[in-house]
Amino acid sequence: MLACLLFSPVRTDDACPSSCICARDSGTVTCLDGEDTEIPGNIPEWTSTLILKEKNISTLQRGAFMNNGTELEMTVLSLSYNGIKAIEPYAFLGLPRLHMLDLSHNQLESISARAFHGLLELRSLYLNHSILPPATEQLSHALSTLRNLHRLELAGNMLKAIPLLDMYNLHALVLINNSIESIGGGDVTILYQQRRIRIYLSLNPFRCNCELEAFYYWLKNSSQCPDAGRLLCSEPEAKRGVPVEKLREEDVDCMNENLEAVSYVFLGIVLALIGVVFLMVLYLNRRGIKRWLNNIREACRDQMEVYHYRYEQDSDPRLANVAV
Ligand SMILES: *[C@@H]1O[C@H](CO)[C@@H](O)[C@H](O)[C@H]1NC(C)=O
Ligand SMILES: *[C@@H]1O[C@H](CO)[C@@H](O)[C@H](O)[C@H]1NC(C)=O
Ligand SMILES: *[C@@H]1O[C@H](CO)[C@@H](O)[C@H](O)[C@H]1NC(C)=O
Ligand SMILES: *[C@@H]1O[C@H](CO)[C@@H](O)[C@H](O)[C@H]1NC(C)=O
Ligand SMILES: *[C@@H]1O[C@H](CO)[C@@H](O)[C@H](O)[C@H]1NC(C)=O
Repeated sequence: MLACLLFSPVRTDDACPSSCICARDSGTVTCLDGEDTEIPGNIPEWTSTLILKEKNISTLQRGAFMNNGTELEMTVLSLSYNGIKAIEPYAFLGLPRLHMLDLSHNQLESISARAFHGLLELRSLYLNHSILPPATEQLSHALSTLRNLHRLELAGNMLKAIPLLDMYNLHALVLINNSIESIGGGDVTILYQQRRIRIYLSLNPFRCNCELEAFYYWLKNSSQCPDAGRLLCSEPEAKRGVPVEKLREEDVDCMNENLEAVSYVFLGIVLALIGVVFLMVLYLNRRGIKRWLNNIREACRDQMEVYHYRYEQDSDPRLANVAV
């Protein structure tokens, strides 16, 4: 006990940082839109929850929450609405007990692959409405260091694909209100393998064609998508607004779609062949046809002559009769 007291780092100032509100009972320090754009340097040692909001912090630098080289026992860190654009490597160093990190509603353009290094106990990460397109590629690398993550919120980020799926401890992945049009067979296989994961996907613009087949069956067959009933088609035009779950099997049947295409091609080929054969017959028989035409013409002429003759023959007596 005495040793502990002797060797624990001496804290010169345990006071509340300026422009923050400290509630020692609950262990909460709240710093709202103060003048300074810096993260307070003297965060009290007893802090378990730190809330910074509307501080206009553009970059989270290495060791941003290190108090003069000492670790903090903080478990909850909320950094929403701070205009954060970049997270540098080792930004969260010295927070080994952190369970929950809220980075929602920022404008992240760059996330270092080592951004979340050292967050060994992080369970929940909120990145909703926070990731701009330049950072989407970097996201997977950064997240892959978070081995114990249970809940990952990525709503409202214009993501076009599920960012990563090799996080075997993930229980909830929230991808509501993104730009996911299709989820391929490969991703579906991984989803089947990760029985524990629940993935939320409403408000995405699904393209309901046969590429969605594997996903469609996964949706009907597994109970891994709690908001399955609210996934709607946005394309094609004819199926806009139709729930993905309510599609008919033939709507997503690639075999069907291919067969239809094949049958049209086949019909085309047959028609073309018939045309060619017809032309060939015409060409090969051009003499015969000529002769046939001549015959017809002659026959006509003969007929005409006979007619003419008859006419003449007939007309004479009539004329004679009239004359008489
Ligand atoms: C945030 O800070 C930057 C400089 O660091 C400044 O250019 C910008 O105008 C500030 N934005 C707001 C909303 O205060
Ligand atoms: C940082 O901690 C060291 C001891 O670990 C102490 O000597 C020094 O004064 C501290 N500096 C500040 C700015 O608190
Ligand atoms: C986004 O993050 C906040 C936490 O800051 C949370 O309360 C909210 O439910 C999240 N989800 C959405 C869809 O906004
Ligand atoms: C979806 O996200 C966009 C930003 O990407 C946001 O402007 C919009 O309000 C969100 N819609 C809903 C229904 O949450
Ligand atoms: C439905 O799921 C079971 C096991 O979860 C699987 O064996 C079966 O093949 C699936 N059916 C379809 C149509 O995907």
